[in-house]
Amino acid sequence: MKGFFYDTLLDEENICNLEREKKMLQQGVLQKKKFVVCGARNTGKTSLVKNVVIPYFQKKHSKSFALFVDLMEVKSLESIHQRIQIGFESAFSSAFPAKNLVALTKQFLSQLRPEVSFDSLTGSPTLSLGISRDKKSISFLEIFTIINKKISKNMSVLLVLDEFQDIALIPEAQGLFRQAFQELRKIPLILMGSKKHILSQLFAKPNAPLASFGEDLEFEKIAYEVYHQYISERFHFRKLKIDFPTARELQDALFRIPESINIVCADLCENHERKKIEPQDIFQSIDHVLEKRRSRFEEWLSHFSEKEEEILVALAKFGPIKHPTSQVFLKEIHSTARTISLTISSFLDKSVIERNEEGFCIADPLLFYFLKKFR
Ligand SMILES: Nc1ncnc2c1ncn2[C@@H]1O[C@H](COP(=O)(O)OP(=O)(O)OP(=O)(O)O)[C@@H](O)[C@H]1O
Ligand SMILES: [Mg+2]
Repeated sequence: MKGFFYDTLLDEENICNLEREKKMLQQGVLQKKKFVVCGARNTGKTSLVKNVVIPYFQKKHSKSFALFVDLMEVKSLESIHQRIQIGFESAFSSAFPAKNLVALTKQFLSQLRPEVSFDSLTGSPTLSLGISRDKKSISFLEIFTIINKKISKNMSVLLVLDEFQDIALIPEAQGLFRQAFQELRKIPLILMGSKKHILSQLFAKPNAPLASFGEDLEFEKIAYEVYHQYISERFHFRKLKIDFPTARELQDALFRIPESINIVCADLCENHERKKIEPQDIFQSIDHVLEKRRSRFEEWLSHFSEKEEEILVALAKFGPIKHPTSQVFLKEIHSTARTISLTISSFLDKSVIERNEEGFCIADPLLFYFLKKFR
């Protein structure tokens, strides 16, 4: 069903555009390419790869094995092992017919102490590796070796590691991934992330273990006309209309970020019918959304110190700021240059703010309006 969805992965019919990215990834995985995919937050990376590229790969091969792992916020090597192990268990269980799982587990995974248990209600089998004995996860190097040496000999394999940049803070991880990837010469691989500055530390720094690995693919902003059409199609169900200049203003007001645009459009649909949407309706809707999300923002802000909040508010009210350690900005928030640069770099790492040609600014448009209105 067509609609404005948010806080969720999208199915193909609700992904606006991304045609270029889709074509490159679909062709690339068939050619066994390695990609480093990057794009701002909430621009459809995970939806496209998980709900379009992986199913396409599976359709193109009679026997396929697709491993998808989300590495968001991994804090240690052990948690990387664990995430990859969990992803592997689920990929393995869904790659093979239930009736063959026990036999295939023995064939492929005998050295990993596998256990297959059966759900008492549905009877469907679940695989778990080595956990029962010592509670330690299997090293992901071992898992990658099995994929490479055994599974890929029998079926077409695709590997996807989402939020890959989060491994950057874990010593050893980069070197181990380099070692693992070197083995996977004939297996397509997609590494994804939203934090461009950290991804470039991993892949663009000449002396980094993963330097010059793979082919870059950056998700571009969706053209104004294309998103206008996407909005009009969905407004049609409520007999709403929006002309191009107003649709463009809406997209700009929300920094052209698809998720925020969808949130506001869903609110417009909820509150209007049979009319032409005007710019004032958009800003009324943004206010309306802020009211609904106010306690969420307040709770989120409560995790920051007073000084950190002050810096965020200043960025919202006076940003974009080209030089946050300039005297003018320092005076505004009564702080030292050192405190500000540490805070700014931690905000960048957490994607709370971003840096573009105009300077540092709040990344989430709704947080931006919230800070301007309620602080
Ligand atoms: N191309 C698109 N068309 C319509 N909506 C989109 C598009 N891309 C992203 N969205 C919106 O963004 C939300 C998040 O999508 P998704 O998780 O796929 O993005 P992401 O780029 O992986 O985000 P993150 O960087 O947070 O991982 C969706 O629920 C939807 O509201
Ligand atoms: Mg994602």
